[in-house]
Amino acid sequence: MIIEDNKIKKQKALTKEHNPFLSASSIKNEDNYEKNIRPLTFDDYIGQNSIKNTLKISIEASKKRNTILDHLLFYGPPGLGKTTLATIIAHETGANIKITSAPSIERPRDIIGILMQLKEGDVLFIDEIHRLNKIAEEILYPAMEDFSIDLTTGKSQSVKTMRIPIPKFTLIGATTKAGALSGPLRDRFGIIHRLEFYTIDELAQIIKRTSKILNFDIDDNGALEIAKRSRLTPRIANRLVKRSADWAIVKGDGKITKQIATDALNALEIDDLGLDVTDRALLNLMINSFDGGPVGIETLAVALGEDIRTIEDVYEPYLIQQGLLNRTPRGRKATKLAYKHLNIKIDSSQLELPL
Ligand code: ADE
Repeated sequence: MIIEDNKIKKQKALTKEHNPFLSASSIKNEDNYEKNIRPLTFDDYIGQNSIKNTLKISIEASKKRNTILDHLLFYGPPGLGKTTLATIIAHETGANIKITSAPSIERPRDIIGILMQLKEGDVLFIDEIHRLNKIAEEILYPAMEDFSIDLTTGKSQSVKTMRIPIPKFTLIGATTKAGALSGPLRDRFGIIHRLEFYTIDELAQIIKRTSKILNFDIDDNGALEIAKRSRLTPRIANRLVKRSADWAIVKGDGKITKQIATDALNALEIDDLGLDVTDRALLNLMINSFDGGPVGIETLAVALGEDIRTIEDVYEPYLIQQGLLNRTPRGRKATKLAYKHLNIKIDSSQLELPL
């Protein structure tokens, strides 16, 4: 069973904290949409094969030993399936999962309440775990290590600490920034996995699976076209297939073909590499206003009117992966490939001379 923290639900709706890229009104629909197509077993989950295989072994070993699964940390760019893997682990171990996110854990009583409500064997999923505050983190340490929490009562001289046991549980943390996690917290995870970008072929399979579930008519070339423009990310692929299905119904005969997908994605201003308006604005800004860089992330954020975290976590990983942008100690640089992709001629004075 999946229980989502009330607070996180409210927060998603009110502040867009959880996903700054969705409008408040679209969040609920997107959430339901994601839940319906989310695979529940490893067999249905496409990609991340090496993670899947090692997780299966860990789960089987914990079942054979009759112990609880070690705490797990997943990290990597957003949309690659961290929450999905957590729900699969809960499903495969027959556990309930409680889903929350670190920004919604504000006061000590929030984390204490969550921990005290857990039942033996539950999975607790904390998204954006790098944003957990220090006090909550310190409450979590004995909970993770000894399945207990230290409660303090009284004031100043008469302060007393009581250690109370809580049921054994598995914590699954997810983060886009493993480096931002404190050492002591990171060290308490027994299993740590970095999620990788998907291949085009895996994405095409995911798109076909989603289309089948949602009754979309799609051919192989339609799936491939969407896959190529999905930033190697299933969450984006699943969103784009829905937009393409809308286009197919309104502008075509209902089938998502290569032509329909191309027209739908062009209309959304998603180019053949999957870059959207903001990606291109970022690269254009670096090239046209800063001679290709290096330029500081703060400057880029101000000029673009975007949050630094959004640029770092959402836009940059794919641009780096595609070889369009480099992070250097002096700032961000657009690569030659970025000039080529945007059809901008490189000023020869900007070419780096070999050392
Ligand atoms: N939907 C989203 N991610 C998926 C995945 N990795 N496999 C299958 N369906 C998915």
